[in-house]
Amino acid sequence: MHKVLVTGGSGYIGARLCLHLAEQGYSVTPLFYSNIPKEKSWISKMDNVVVGDIRDEKFLIELAKNKYDVIVHLVSLDHNQSNGSPAYVSSINIAPVWSLLDVFSKQGLKKFIYFSTAQVYGALKDEKVTEFHDTNTQNAYGLTHHIGEVICEHYNRVSSVDCRIVRLSNSYGAPIFEENNCWWLVVNDLCRMAYIENKIVLQSDGSPLRDFIHGWDVCNGVQCIIETSEDHFIYNINSGKTMSIIEIAQKIKTVFFVRYGIELPIITAKRESDVEINKYLLDNSLVRSIGFEVKWNLEDGINNLFEYLEQNNE
Ligand SMILES: NC(=O)c1ccc[n+]([C@@H]2O[C@H](COP(=O)([O-])OP(=O)(O)OC[C@H]3O[C@@H](n4cnc5c(N)ncnc54)[C@H](O)[C@@H]3O)[C@@H](O)[C@H]2O)c1
Repeated sequence: MHKVLVTGGSGYIGARLCLHLAEQGYSVTPLFYSNIPKEKSWISKMDNVVVGDIRDEKFLIELAKNKYDVIVHLVSLDHNQSNGSPAYVSSINIAPVWSLLDVFSKQGLKKFIYFSTAQVYGALKDEKVTEFHDTNTQNAYGLTHHIGEVICEHYNRVSSVDCRIVRLSNSYGAPIFEENNCWWLVVNDLCRMAYIENKIVLQSDGSPLRDFIHGWDVCNGVQCIIETSEDHFIYNINSGKTMSIIEIAQKIKTVFFVRYGIELPIITAKRESDVEINKYLLDNSLVRSIGFEVKWNLEDGINNLFEYLEQNNE
C-alpha cells in the first residue's frame, strides 16, 4: 500500500484528495498548516495527521523519518496572494518545493507530484495546448509555479525521486471543509451569487475562456499519475472543454431555473472593443492515456453546489 503525504491537506483540493485516496485504500497523512479540522469522520479515515509549517526545514527533516512513498505537494498562495512581496511569495510557493525534495529524497521518497497550473502557458491563441506547448508566464503565480516545475525537473535528473507535474486548469465543486478558500473560483462564485442574490453579475463581458474540471475528477487524475508506470513528466489535468464565462453563466441560469423555477438575470460588464477571442483547447489526451476519464458533467457539478448551499446557508 502506498504511504502518501499530502501537503496543503486541509486546503480546497487537498481535503478532497486525502479523502479520495484514503477511500481508495491508500495510507494518507495530510499536513496541516494550523489547526486540525474538526470533521471527525474525515480525520478518522487518515492514517496520521501532522501540523507544521512547510517553510520549517527542521520540521521537514523530522517528518521525513516516517518514510513516505509519495508526496502530493499542494501548498501555494493563490493567484491574488502571489502578487505579494517576492521574498514572501517565494518562501511559500517555491522554496518548500526545493526543501521537500532535498529532505525527502534522502529518505527513500519514490514519487513527488507537484501541483502546477495551466497558467504557466500564459496567453493562448486559437490552438490545442499539449504538455509540449511553450511556457509563457504572465503573472507572479504562473512564474512561481514554473520555477517549482524546474526544481522538479532538476530532481528528476539528480535523484532517484520520480517527479511529476500536474498542470491543472480551473477546478470547481462544493468544498469538503467550510473554511476552504474556494468561493472566488468562477463556477463556485457564480452559483453562490445565483443562490444568495438571485442574479449573476459578471466582472467581465463574459468572453474570457476557461476549462472547468470538477474536484473529484482532479482526484481521479492524481490517482492515475500516482499509479502509472509510464514515464511522462508533465500532465495536463482538465476537462478538455473550453467555455466562455457567459456560457457557464447561462448553464448555471438553466440549472437554477429547472431547480427553483426562477429566471435569473445575467448582468455583464461592457464589452471591451476589439478584444481578440481565441478558442484554445487544453488537451488532456496524455492523462487519458493512463486511465483518466472525465466523469462529472457541469450540470451535475452545479446541482451538487446548489445542494451544498441549501444545506449550509442559514
Ligand atoms: N483550485 C484550483 O482550481 C487550482 C487551479 C490550478 C492550480 N491549483 C494549484 O493547486 C494547489 C492547491 O490549490 P488549492 O485550491 O487546494 O489551494 P488552497 O489555498 O485551498 O490550499 C493551500 C494549502 O496550503 C496551506 N499552506 C499555506 N501556507 C502553508 C505553510 N507555510 N505551511 C503549510 N501549509 C501551508 C494552506 O493552509 C492550504 O491548506 C496549489 O498549488 C494551486 O496553485 C489550484
